[in-house]
Amino acid sequence: MKTLFKVKSIEQLHAEAADNDKGLRRTLTATNLISLGIGAIIGTGIFVLTGTAAAVHAGPALVLAFVLSGIGCAFAGLCYAEYAAMIPISGSAYAYSYSTLGEFVAWIIGWDLILEYLFGASTVAVGWSGYLISILKDFGIYLPPEITASTGTKLVNIPNEGWQALTAGVQEKLTAAAIDFNSLETTTALFNFPAVFIIGLLTILLVIGIRESANFNNVIVVVKLAVILLFIIFGFNYISSENWVPFIPERIIDVDGRGHYGWFGIVTAAGVIFFAYIGFDAVSTLAQEAKNPQRDMPIGILGSLVVCTILYILVSLIMTGIVNYKELNVPAPIALAIDKAGDGLQWLRFPVKLGAIAGLSSVILVMLMGQPRIFFSMARDGLLPQTFARVHPRFKTPHVTTILTGIVAAFFAGVLPIHILGELVSIGTLFAFVIVCIGIIVLRKSRPDLPRPFKTPLVPLVPILGALICFAQMVGLPGDTWLRLVVWMVIGLAIYFFYGKKHSVVQQR
Ligand code: ALA
Repeated sequence: MKTLFKVKSIEQLHAEAADNDKGLRRTLTATNLISLGIGAIIGTGIFVLTGTAAAVHAGPALVLAFVLSGIGCAFAGLCYAEYAAMIPISGSAYAYSYSTLGEFVAWIIGWDLILEYLFGASTVAVGWSGYLISILKDFGIYLPPEITASTGTKLVNIPNEGWQALTAGVQEKLTAAAIDFNSLETTTALFNFPAVFIIGLLTILLVIGIRESANFNNVIVVVKLAVILLFIIFGFNYISSENWVPFIPERIIDVDGRGHYGWFGIVTAAGVIFFAYIGFDAVSTLAQEAKNPQRDMPIGILGSLVVCTILYILVSLIMTGIVNYKELNVPAPIALAIDKAGDGLQWLRFPVKLGAIAGLSSVILVMLMGQPRIFFSMARDGLLPQTFARVHPRFKTPHVTTILTGIVAAFFAGVLPIHILGELVSIGTLFAFVIVCIGIIVLRKSRPDLPRPFKTPLVPLVPILGALICFAQMVGLPGDTWLRLVVWMVIGLAIYFFYGKKHSVVQQR
């Protein structure tokens, strides 16, 4: 029983970080880290999910949902920053919990982080596939629907619009337009090939090198920031302030008994758009490749979070100012806002789609970069087979785990629908944030002596509020998602008790 809670000393973690034999290359600067953070953050959340969050849950008060979720992330981010500066090694929340709450909790977090990074990459790859199809369609290129959606998805050929997944929303739209969908051509998807393709491509890039990957990311981040800034600057002139009235629509309960809008709707919307913030913590997985992690980790984590929060707040204000929230239930809400603005903004249509495709690629890249580094740390501790800790002799990247991550992520992207993946990613990430926040309080008590290059302010208030806000957002997620989390954790526990616990190389203190 005692071995379950054995704690790895911070001194031991530092010694490992200094162990250059197995070392990763230290090439990342503070600017690279902020850029990688932004690369991981801005993606499906803002380009896809915001529309539904406004239309169904929050109305124009979507901006308050961004503020609320942003506060939860900021508190968790401050805790991450304290840890990442103090324990600059590659395992992120896994390594942090090993040094505070013990091996068992560390394993749970490590296993949980697979949901964030590996499944995160799959989720965003499915979103990427959707945007690719749409841009190709603009050029008159049509890919077969059977190989461009998740396995088993029913698709329907809508006149003038082309193939779309037959969701409840699409059915409603057809019914409203008095179109009988039984009269339309339908098919079933076999595999999401574009999603598999993009993961394959980025996996190859990641094996070749961290610096190459960071450079690729820098270029993409410039493109997506430019697109978002253009939307903010030019969209501003097209706001009609009557779209913001009522700012918080009155709460209603629909015929199915589901609630919408009001203050509670803002909390639900916060849970949905939480996905948009995921990624700032990915910076912490790169601590061992940072030139000056003590100083630059907090800058990378908090800097990228601040930039994205400001952009999200502005985008959501402008979007709901141009389009009435009731019309925003679409997969490409920013493109809709551009259409609604009229001819004056049409030139932005193509750049926005391009920016979204580029933006989603960098999110996938950073997720696929984070996962192998967590496997790497777990393998070094003996909880996973040693081959997971291998570093390529020439490229100096964890190539075995990078390739394995790529294959598994590509498989899930090929077969699972975006909402199942997305909700799993959110619950997994929120769970990790809760534990990171609690860990900060524990470590302040158990090791007050440790040098802390960055200190979370107002401990324990900030970590407690961070944990509470994140937990509240977990509670807001559907029951099915909780069930999947439990199943995932049970599989993880089985692996731990049959393999990890017996092979752990960490000494009991
Ligand atoms: N925050 C990332 C996105 O929105 C995961 O795609």
